Amino acid sequence: MYRFIVAGGRPLRGTVQIASAKNAVLPILAACLLTEETCTITNLPMLEDVNTMLRLLRSMGVTVERKGRSARITAGGRVATEAPYDIVRKMRASYYVLGPLVARFGQARVSLPGGCAIGARPVDLHLRGMSGLGAKVTIEHGYIDARAKRLAGAPMMLAGAKGPSVGATANTMMAAALARGETVISGAACEPEIVDLADFLNCLGAKVSGAGTPELRIRGVRRLGGAEYRPIPDRIEAGTFAAAACITGGDVEIRHCRPDHLTAMLDVLRRAGARVETGRGSMRIAGSGRVNAIDITTAPYPGFPTDLQAQFTALLATARGTSVVTESIFEGRFLHAMELLRMGARIDVKGSTAVIHGVEKLSSAQVMASDLRASAALVLAGLAAGGTTEVLRIYHLDRGYERLEKKLTGLGAKVERAGSPG
Ligand code: EPZ
Repeated sequence: MYRFIVAGGRPLRGTVQIASAKNAVLPILAACLLTEETCTITNLPMLEDVNTMLRLLRSMGVTVERKGRSARITAGGRVATEAPYDIVRKMRASYYVLGPLVARFGQARVSLPGGCAIGARPVDLHLRGMSGLGAKVTIEHGYIDARAKRLAGAPMMLAGAKGPSVGATANTMMAAALARGETVISGAACEPEIVDLADFLNCLGAKVSGAGTPELRIRGVRRLGGAEYRPIPDRIEAGTFAAAACITGGDVEIRHCRPDHLTAMLDVLRRAGARVETGRGSMRIAGSGRVNAIDITTAPYPGFPTDLQAQFTALLATARGTSVVTESIFEGRFLHAMELLRMGARIDVKGSTAVIHGVEKLSSAQVMASDLRASAALVLAGLAAGGTTEVLRIYHLDRGYERLEKKLTGLGAKVERAGSPG
């Protein structure tokens, strides 16, 4: 398996270009199932999760012509309406085919994703969305089976005990696009990736309004057409580089990003003492010395993203003073804290809260990545530590960060990939 060897202690300096957002691209690729016409998605990020989604579409009989960063996708001929366990277990986001399949073909059989390193991840809200549109949903032999002659639009409340769900909002919005009549989703997720999906659907001829607010309205249409579409930049990748600039006391210009999608994070950085400048489509983040301790609670958008919690836990591990980080979305998402302890961090995790007593310097160690963002956190810690850190199980990183080691090397870091794909 691949691992990263990170030589710490070099401030990052220079310019880095952000890729398109993985979490916008994945539902957009699935949404191509809603039409028999060709959709061209441009500026695709070179990520394992994108490869997996394209593989899933191909396995269903969809024509996928990929040329570098573009993919032409045509779900024109016979489409198999099943997403097998073999693919879904590799990537939960495979469940994004559920809504499009049942809406266009009247049936879908999608494997239940099963367990996950960041906590319990139920799919009840996805099922609520499908049933709310009139589908008959059953679970048998590890598969969700949803059937409907034609879905029927309806009002529904889609938030759960933890608040809105990005995935369930996206799945239901895609399904409602081809339903008869109007759907009103209350308690909808407001994430920029939801807005991007709505924009894409509207390019195909859908009638979605209210995206980015908690009330989404979708007037169903009979059929959708094709389009060419370029997804939004990845706010989590941009936030990861911002944290990397600070933890190394560097100065980095982050290009092709949307600072307006990162307001909560930029506010945290400013309050922690970093220098933040934002422009149109770019931002410059500079740290000098240790940041100030600060408390963070993750929340649905526009709150502080759970997908940046691990990276900021690493940053605060070297802050001046004691910070409290509360994870309100995925209660189990603190495995990185246990690895950071091995690097000399002082972190007490109790339930969904981490109390972080900042130390002056982290020390290098061999550490193990448990999920995508935890991996990024460990790489960041390695960049700041004295000595050489080895981060094992880097395949998690390749699912969501495009050539992270190359981008970091371009900023003056010493990060090498070692080992084999595994
Ligand atoms: C999306 O996951 C992202 N994944 C995650 O990105 C991200 O962490 C998460 O949203 C929160 O922002 C993709 O976009 C592919 P949710 P998703 O449904 O849609 C509960 C990353 O590192 N819930 O918004 O699966 C759930 O347990 C990742 O890129 C239910 O209770 O997340 C959680 O507490 C990993 N029932 C909360 O809602 C459901 O049916 C929010 O989850 C669904 C969710």
